[in-house]
Order: sequence, then structure tokens, then C-alpha cells
Amino acid sequence: METGNTQILKPHDEDRIPFILTLLIACLSAVLLLGQMTEPARGAEAGPSDLVKKGRQVFTTAGGVGCAACHGAYAEGDLGIGPYNRGVEEQKIRDALVSVEAMSFLREEMNEAKIKGIAAYYTWLGELQLVKTLAKRGRFIPDRLQIYPGTKVQLVIKNASSFPRKFGGGNMNIGTVKVAGRESLDMVWRAPAKEGSYTLECLDCRIKGQKLTLEISKSAKPHRGVKPAAIAVAAKTPAQPPARRNPEAVQKGRELFRTAGEVGCDACHGNYAEGDVGIGPYNRGFSEKKIRLALDKVEVMKFLKKELSDGQVKQVAEYYGWLGEHKLIKTVAVKGRFFPNIIRVHPGTPVQLVISNQDREPHAYTSRTMGIPPISAGGRERGDAIWTAPAGEGEFVLRCANCGDQFHKLTIEVSKEAEKFRPR
Ligand code: HEC
Ligand code: HEC
Repeated sequence: METGNTQILKPHDEDRIPFILTLLIACLSAVLLLGQMTEPARGAEAGPSDLVKKGRQVFTTAGGVGCAACHGAYAEGDLGIGPYNRGVEEQKIRDALVSVEAMSFLREEMNEAKIKGIAAYYTWLGELQLVKTLAKRGRFIPDRLQIYPGTKVQLVIKNASSFPRKFGGGNMNIGTVKVAGRESLDMVWRAPAKEGSYTLECLDCRIKGQKLTLEISKSAKPHRGVKPAAIAVAAKTPAQPPARRNPEAVQKGRELFRTAGEVGCDACHGNYAEGDVGIGPYNRGFSEKKIRLALDKVEVMKFLKKELSDGQVKQVAEYYGWLGEHKLIKTVAVKGRFFPNIIRVHPGTPVQLVISNQDREPHAYTSRTMGIPPISAGGRERGDAIWTAPAGEGEFVLRCANCGDQFHKLTIEVSKEAEKFRPR
């Protein structure tokens, strides 16, 4: 069987994975590759150019937070702040730096060389098909992916555990890679030109023997380096008065959403059912009927059907309904700074405010004017609060209470000019 070609990139979190290990893996892969050279060396990939590497560095560090803080670690737009950026051309980057308010703090720093670097990095990303899997309790979610023969894949393994985990084995020829607790690692792998099955497993998880299978098949969709269809967020039905919810069922539903089948719906649909994991779609406000249909029809969800009683499905549906009645607003917090730091909402909007704490230390975020309890978020965790914007216009401020920074703030502007929220 032909063997795919791998190249390991430096993980985003460099301090967690010793350079020596990366080096070791690179050498190991090289040795393994040499061993496979009997086959015509198809796609003997040269590593990314220095310009691409430079661009990647700017992408993760610009302005002290990196483009990644808003556009996602792999420029896939999965944070719900900045859009999908893979394959975006240089002119668009220049335009965005001039016109996007949230990016204005980067204008001065982004000199010619840095823009060129980012542009090269974006082009390089655009050529790679992004494939993400979450390793949670020894299981891969999803655990089976179809890829068109010959595709260059950027495979991202996210480790849901707080302990480091090793991945390898199988026939992908990637050696052993170590992913730090709660971090992701990405690697480039060229799928062979012939159809076949390639696997990888967690080598030191408590639950053993679960595999990630990459099925190289002509029935997969070829990668075209274009933006995937946007997640369906637009409301199809006009606003309806929110039904009265049973708070206990909402609470139970919220728990089930995080725990069902040991993995939770959140593993695939995102912590707030906003579809930001890149596996399952946006789910807020979806009906009981749609949930039941999905449990019957969606292949990767079938294992959940026997885990949930009829009453539990109703509770999850109640939670979904409740989520649909709240506008989700998200911000990322880095050492007391917020990205974005100004959010506008229409008067009277019920809001679910989510703060993603990027620091390793836990933080509390407080407001003197919003009348909500402090929002606490553990290290690298999220915290959320429910708040209803007042009927009149006004400005509300929230700060990190224990970041040693009273200068930066998050401003919520309640304004009639903000888009009206339509519950769904
Ligand atoms: C504080 C958050 C934030 C940061 C940091 C950020 N962006 Fe953005 N970016 C945005 C938002 C929000 C938009 C969308 C604006 C809109 O659609 O009106 C955007 C839009 C863009 C676009 C336009 C996309 C398109 O399809 O037209 C590009 C390109 C872009 N950003 C590149 C970058 C690069 C490169 C960096 C780092 C040097 C970066 N951004 C950093 C928030 C951010
Ligand atoms: C292993 C990943 C995974 C898990 C876990 C998961 N889902 Fe899904 N779900 C998906 C995928 C993928 C789709 C999209 C399938 C498609 O479009 O063909 C989906 C679709 C759905 C849909 C249909 C969306 C639509 O547009 O009609 C609903 C509703 C849904 N899931 C609810 C849930 C609920 C509730 C749970 C937890 C009890 C859950 N899912 C757990 C992966 C998952």
C-alpha cells in the first residue's frame, strides 16, 4: 500500500511541546519515509517555505493575540468573531486592515513583510483541506473521515483531556505525536493516489483500541480550496413570542447537552450549540422534531439514541428552545483585553454573553452596571451569563476583576442601530 506523506508543523502552543520532541518526530518520519521509497516518491512534499512559516508566526502573534484570536487557530473562522480566512488573497487582507474596525489595532504593526507573510500562509492554508477531530475519552469525534485521493490534508487533533496524549500507530506513517492537555496539534498529510484506509489511534488513553479512520475514496468530495458553505444561522421563520420554558427542564437539558453518551452534544455542536467545532452544525433553537430526526438519521449521532430516554430528548429540546431565544454574543479575553471589545445589541434583546478566557489562570469578569453576577471562567475555559438589554439605549461595561488590569474593558452598546435579534 502506498503511504501518505507527512510533515509535522510546530504546534501553536510551542512551550508545551519541547522542540526536541518535534525534531525527533520529524527525524522519525523522515526515516520511515526513506524506508518507503520503493514506490515512486509521489508528492515528496517540500516543507512550507520560510515565508509561509513567517506568516504562520505573525498569524499567531500579531498585536499580542494573533489573527488566530478572532479568526480561529487554523483561520477557519470557528470562534464566531472573524470569518473563515483560508485561501483569502493578499488584497483582501490589505482591505480588511483598512476597513475592519476590530482589526484597527493591527494597522501600524502590519508592515509589508508581515502582510506578504500572512498572504503566503493564507494561500498555503487554502491548498490544504482542513480535517479536524476531537480526541475525547479515548474516542475520536468524528472517527471516520472520507478524503479524495491525492488531497493534501491538514489534520488537526484536539486533545479534550487535560493530560497530554500520544497518537500514532496505524499506517499513516506519522510516527508518534504528542498533544499537550487541552491543546491541538496539526500536521500535513498527503493522501495517496490510490483508494485505501488509513488509521491512527491514541496510544496512552485509558480506553484503547478506538481508531481514527481516514478513508481515501473517490466518492469523497475533492478539495477545491474554497470556502465551505456558511453555517445556517439565518432565521427562516419570523420572530415569535418566546414560549414559557420550564427552568428545571432547561437545566437538565443543559447538563445532557454536555454529557450525553459520555461525549455530549457539545463535542460536535460547540459549547453553546453554535456549531463552532466544525463538526456538527449550528443547533440553537432547533425543535424536538429535528433532534429526533437527527438521532435517527445522522450516522455519527446514532450511538446517542439508546443513551437518551424519551423524557431526556424532551429536556434537550427545551434547552435548545431556550438557547434559540437568546442572542449569542462571544468575546475572547486575553490578559484583561477583550476581542472584540465593543459589541452592539438592540434594546430589549435577551443575550447569552460568552467569554472565552485564553489565559491559563482562572478569571472573573464583573460589571457594576449590568446587574449580573460575576462571570467566572477557568483557565482556557469559557464562562457565560444571561442578560437582557434594557429597553432604552445605553452603554454597559465589563472588566476582568483579577487580571491586574483596570484599563481594558468590554463595552456593550445598546443601540437601536444594532441589528434586531430574531429568536428561532
Ligand atoms: C479582534 C478580532 C480580529 C483580529 C485580531 C483579526 N481580525 Fe480579521 N476580521 C475580524 C472581523 C470581525 C472581520 C469581519 C468584518 C466584517 O465582515 O465586517 C474580519 C475580516 C477579515 C478579513 C476579510 C475576510 C473576507 O472574506 O473579506 C481578512 C482577510 C482578515 N480579517 C484578516 C486578518 C488578519 C490577517 C489578521 C491578523 C493580522 C486579522 N484579520 C486579525 C476580526 C479580527
Ligand atoms: C459525533 C458528533 C455529534 C454528536 C456527539 C452530536 N451530533 Fe448532532 N449532528 C452531527 C452532525 C455531523 C450533523 C449534521 C449531519 C448532516 O448535516 O448530515 C448533526 C446534526 C444534528 C441536527 C440536525 C441539524 C439540522 O440542520 O437539521 C440536530 C438537531 C442535532 N445534530 C442535535 C444533536 C443533539 C441534541 C446531540 C446530543 C444529544 C447531538 N446532536 C450530538 C454530529 C454530532
